[in-house]
Amino acid sequence: MITSIADLREAARRRLPRMVFDYIDGGADDEITLRQNAERFRTLALKWNVLVDVQRIETETTVFGQTVAAPIIIAPTASSRLFNPRAGEPAVARAAHKHGVIYSASTLASTSIESLARETPGPKLFQIYMWKDRGLVREIMQRARAAGYTGIILTVDTPVAGNRERDPRNRFSIPPKVNLSTATQALGRPGYMLDLATTPPVRAANFSHLPGAVGSIVDFIDQQFDRTVTWRDAAWMREQWQGQFAIKGVGAPEDAEQCIAAGADVIWVSNHGGRQLDTAAATIDLLSPIVERVAGRAEVVLDGGIRRGGDIAKALALGAKAVAIGRPYLWGLAAFGERGVDRALDILTTELRRTMALLGRPRLSDLMPDVFAR
Ligand SMILES: Cc1cc2nc3c(=O)[nH]c(=O)nc-3n(C[C@H](O)[C@H](O)[C@H](O)COP(=O)(O)O)c2cc1C
Repeated sequence: MITSIADLREAARRRLPRMVFDYIDGGADDEITLRQNAERFRTLALKWNVLVDVQRIETETTVFGQTVAAPIIIAPTASSRLFNPRAGEPAVARAAHKHGVIYSASTLASTSIESLARETPGPKLFQIYMWKDRGLVREIMQRARAAGYTGIILTVDTPVAGNRERDPRNRFSIPPKVNLSTATQALGRPGYMLDLATTPPVRAANFSHLPGAVGSIVDFIDQQFDRTVTWRDAAWMREQWQGQFAIKGVGAPEDAEQCIAAGADVIWVSNHGGRQLDTAAATIDLLSPIVERVAGRAEVVLDGGIRRGGDIAKALALGAKAVAIGRPYLWGLAAFGERGVDRALDILTTELRRTMALLGRPRLSDLMPDVFAR
């Protein structure tokens, strides 16, 4: 029975070959940050108010210039079809629309931004890396605008790839290859392997039209990743894009200040779900100083380690406008396709509402730092 995000994770583990499960589940180096992101939410103790009318719980809010039913955003994650070859990104976007929350497409999605836009009329953001080829960056922004994406997210915490040791150990590749060393992982998961074998290859769909026929996602990243990117490039992107503009992967208050100077509407506090710099602080511990520094000049979004609705309440109490989730919906997608993403969003919104009722804080605006016991 699925009653929690942890149950969805277990269901994903049963469905996926280990290399694919570990690609979602894993983090960098010793996975300290990966674990801390979730653990630190648990150590924040709450105090509650009683005899408050909680008949009506209000979770509607605005973020990224959109009115949303709950303060939850689907974080951009690469190549969803790898996790569920049949369902992929469209299933996630449809589930997000059903729940009235914002979907973010990864630049490395396995479905093109245009076909995704056709799948759902819901609010959509597009995540971008600053490629070496700025013409390509400009072109993809134009495509996002034409396809109706209302905001872009510039991810900045990946100047180099994080050291995710589970991947080489598992002989992981995109798409996964079956050979002598991976055969045992594959044989135990016939359902997934059949889906993978009977659907089109998993590609970086947004760039598959490029001359030279881009091979794997990994090759594409190697060719295009630019380590010379600075704040000047962020400001350049701001000039090119008229809609909402977020910078994702921020951990320091002084960088939040630079984001504002570069014209960001949204500062996205993230350590890439513990997949980049290990022993980076848990995002919930980085939030307050950033919120203080920003002082309302931009919206602050947080991701990393959200596994319970109560975690969302805590992030909002410390000043986040909304949270984003990565693995929770990916586990749902891997295990059950669209139904699984739907279930993940259902679980988190139900838990958030219950937490607000038990706290005696029926409106999001009631979630303040005084919900903590100390
Ligand atoms: C499998 C996987 C792929 C990801 N791919 C991307 C990506 O393409 N672009 C990006 O900005 N972040 C990417 N992220 C990071 C997420 O956007 C997000 O920051 C992170 O998952 C949040 O932590 P959580 O998984 O604990 O919710 C990825 C994360 C995972 C787990």
